[in-house]
This record gives sequence, structure tokens and C-alpha cells, in this order.
Amino acid sequence: MIDRFGRRVTYLRVSLTNLCQLKCTYCTLPDEPPTSMAAAEVERLLEIASRRLGFRKVRLTGGEPTLRRDLPEVVRRIAALPGIREVALTTNGLLLERRAAELANAGLGTVNVSLDSLHEDRFAKLTGGGRLADVLAGLRAARDAGIPRVKVNAVLMGGINDDEIESFVDFAAAEAVEVRFIEHMPMRDERVGQWRVEPRQVLERLGRDRGLEPLATSADGGPAERFRVGGAVVGFIHAISNPFCDRCNRLRLTAEGTIRSCLLTGGEVDLLGALRAGGTDAEVEERVVELFQRAADAKPPIYDLLREGSIPMRSIGG
Ligand code: 5AD
Repeated sequence: MIDRFGRRVTYLRVSLTNLCQLKCTYCTLPDEPPTSMAAAEVERLLEIASRRLGFRKVRLTGGEPTLRRDLPEVVRRIAALPGIREVALTTNGLLLERRAAELANAGLGTVNVSLDSLHEDRFAKLTGGGRLADVLAGLRAARDAGIPRVKVNAVLMGGINDDEIESFVDFAAAEAVEVRFIEHMPMRDERVGQWRVEPRQVLERLGRDRGLEPLATSADGGPAERFRVGGAVVGFIHAISNPFCDRCNRLRLTAEGTIRSCLLTGGEVDLLGALRAGGTDAEVEERVVELFQRAADAKPPIYDLLREGSIPMRSIGG
């Protein structure tokens, strides 16, 4: 699908639930009613999106997608669709140890584990009680189960975890997983200024101390700027200081079943409502195609941070 600005939209991020066991500093919200689409509904939407509109990549997010018992089934159904080349998962990792083998068998290609500190106490504090040991066990289980790409997402926050950059680089080398430093996005936060970490300064510091060898962007053309640092591969995602809107190829399906055109701005389109509204298969399909196109056409050329207001990251999917 091509949007109004000529961007090819081929990547759908699907929030499978807005529930999560953790309460991360930048993601905590008042409780919302849990909503979620059935596995068969997700499959049907993606079958249409891949066959009719050329979607090729899916990322399952949340909330915390591993809270769904049927996650391996969701992965299996999506991975089996002829047009889909890549199924990825973003997770807090807490339940991954238990589920890694099943997910690998279901055809999961990539896991991104969110991990913002390698200190047990700090991790617990940042996540509202999460156990670091469980995340590490999950990460290792995913890698050892043979899931092809296992990565760590670390959101850098000045004065909170920016003293751990070198530790994360060492961790990436020791565990043979790629670590991605993510610039904190001010979703609803007054503390933005306080948490600001200048990406260029981090790169300069790492370059000076460790040496940075630039690598090609990842095969899927993702937004990360990647480097080899000694024995580690690290990436940087700078959505704020270096927006990738001009090559944005994604739409998001929220846990409520609406399509969101942009993480930071953009209207929502009720896709699940259209699927459930009934009619013949052909009618439903046409409605779904039309709504996807409407959502793509609502993609702004560049996000508008000032208008973003309060966005429930948990239900949009990070
Ligand atoms: N800024 C940057 N990254 C965020 N994430 C969640 N909220 C934010 C934010 N405000 C990240 C999580 C996770 C992914 C789903 O999105 O850490 O890695």
C-alpha cells in the first residue's frame, strides 16, 4: 500500500492486549478495560492485509503479548500466511523462558526484549517490581531455542540509566544479542527535559572509548543506526532527534482493534468493528481494505509532538 506521500506501507504492529505485569516509569496508566482480538480475527485481518495490500512484516506487541496463552497460535497463523515474511515480537521477557521453544516452533523470526537496566534493584524500581533474573532467563531461552534474531531494547533516560551504556555494550558482546538504545519519546511526560540524553554525545563517547564501526541498516530497512563496537552489535533509534517519518512504513493495530496511523499522531480507524459488522466475506474484505487505505492516507508527513497529548502506550503497542 502506498500512502499520500509515496511511502510504501508494508509493516503492521499489532497490540495483542493492553495488559502487562509491569508498571514501567514511562508507560504507566490508569487501568483500562482489557480488550483484545481473537487469534482468528488477527489472522483474517492479516490475511487480507498481506494478500490485498502487500503487508510483509508483523510485530506483535502489547501491553505484554506473552500474557496471551494463545500467542504461539497467533504466531503460527500469521507466519503461515503466504505474503508474510517476518513475524516479530516485543516483550518484557518475563514469561519467555517458559514459552520460547513453542514460539520458535511457531515460526517467530525476531524477539525484542525490553530491558532498561542490568542492575537488579534499578530494574525493579523502573518496572514496578519486575525481576531482572526472569528477563535474563527469558532472553537466553529465546536465543537458545533458535529464534533467529534476539535483541534488547534499552530506553535511555538521563540520570536514570545512562551510566549503563558501556555495560549494555559488554552485555551485547557477552550474550551475543544486539542491543538497541532507544531515545525516550515524550509520550505524556513532563520529565522529558530531565531525561534527555543527547544521542550524538553517546555516539561520540562510545566512539572515543570503544571505537564504532558503522554497519548497514538491518535487512528490513528498519530505523536503527547500527554499529559494531568491539565484539558487540549495537543500534540506536532516535525517533525524536532524527525522525524517520520520511521512510516510515508502518501502521499500528491497537488492542481495541483500531488502526493508528502514527505512534505520535494520527487518527484511529475502527478495523475490528468493520470485521465484526457482518456481511459476506467479499463485503468484509472490501471494507477492511478501504479502512487500511484510509488509515495509510491519514499518516502525517511528520509527527506532531505538540498535539500528541496523552497516549496510552500500553494499548497502542510500543
Ligand atoms: N519512549 C521510548 N520507548 C518507549 N517504549 C515504551 N515507551 C517508550 C517511550 N516513551 C519502548 C519500550 C519497549 C518498546 C515496546 O517501546 O521500552 O522496548
